[in-house]
Amino acid sequence: MDFYEVVRKRRSYRVYKPDMPEKDKIERILEAARLAPTWANMQGVHYIVVQEPENVRAIWQAIGQDQKFGNAPMFIVGIIAETSSGTNKNGEKYYGVDFGICFEHLILAATAEGLATCWIGWFNENKIKAILGIPNKYKVMDLTPLGYSTKSKGEVTDRKPIEKIVHYEKF
Ligand SMILES: Cc1cc2nc3c(=O)[nH]c(=O)nc-3n(C[C@H](O)[C@H](O)[C@H](O)COP(=O)(O)O)c2cc1C
Repeated sequence: MDFYEVVRKRRSYRVYKPDMPEKDKIERILEAARLAPTWANMQGVHYIVVQEPENVRAIWQAIGQDQKFGNAPMFIVGIIAETSSGTNKNGEKYYGVDFGICFEHLILAATAEGLATCWIGWFNENKIKAILGIPNKYKVMDLTPLGYSTKSKGEVTDRKPIEKIVHYEKF
């Protein structure tokens, strides 16, 4: 799939078929995330691949958005420690930027593989940490189900027009 087609086709999918994604696809997706740029190349993001049915069920419960979602066969959970990235001259921490870049690489690669994802940023972090044995210093930033969607949503359309967000020379 051409890059721009991938960008247009990436949508948030919340209902999945039970089929587990193929191992080689998962490996390529994780490799795309590995190659992402980070602050001073610190590479602080870790990815937890969750496929055991018992753990997958527990993660769904920790997300607690059942009314919107249908079960997916697996999750990829993204974590980073604040200390695994830098701080800019204004004292702003950059771990969130690093994380976003890496995780979007992963999400776009999944789209290119014909797989469905959904960024999920709203969940019970303590429960997720307990289920997956994540050490305290890490923040669970976002996670995504990974699988095949029951139906296609088509391409992204509901965005602001370009002239409302792009400014040439001055704001
Ligand atoms: C950082 C982030 C966190 C998100 N968290 C959630 C979430 O907790 N639950 C949910 O249903 N969707 C979540 N979404 C999905 C957004 O609602 C969705 O990307 C947006 O509405 C645009 O729709 P699209 O992804 O289909 O283009 C999240 C998206 C991002 C980027």
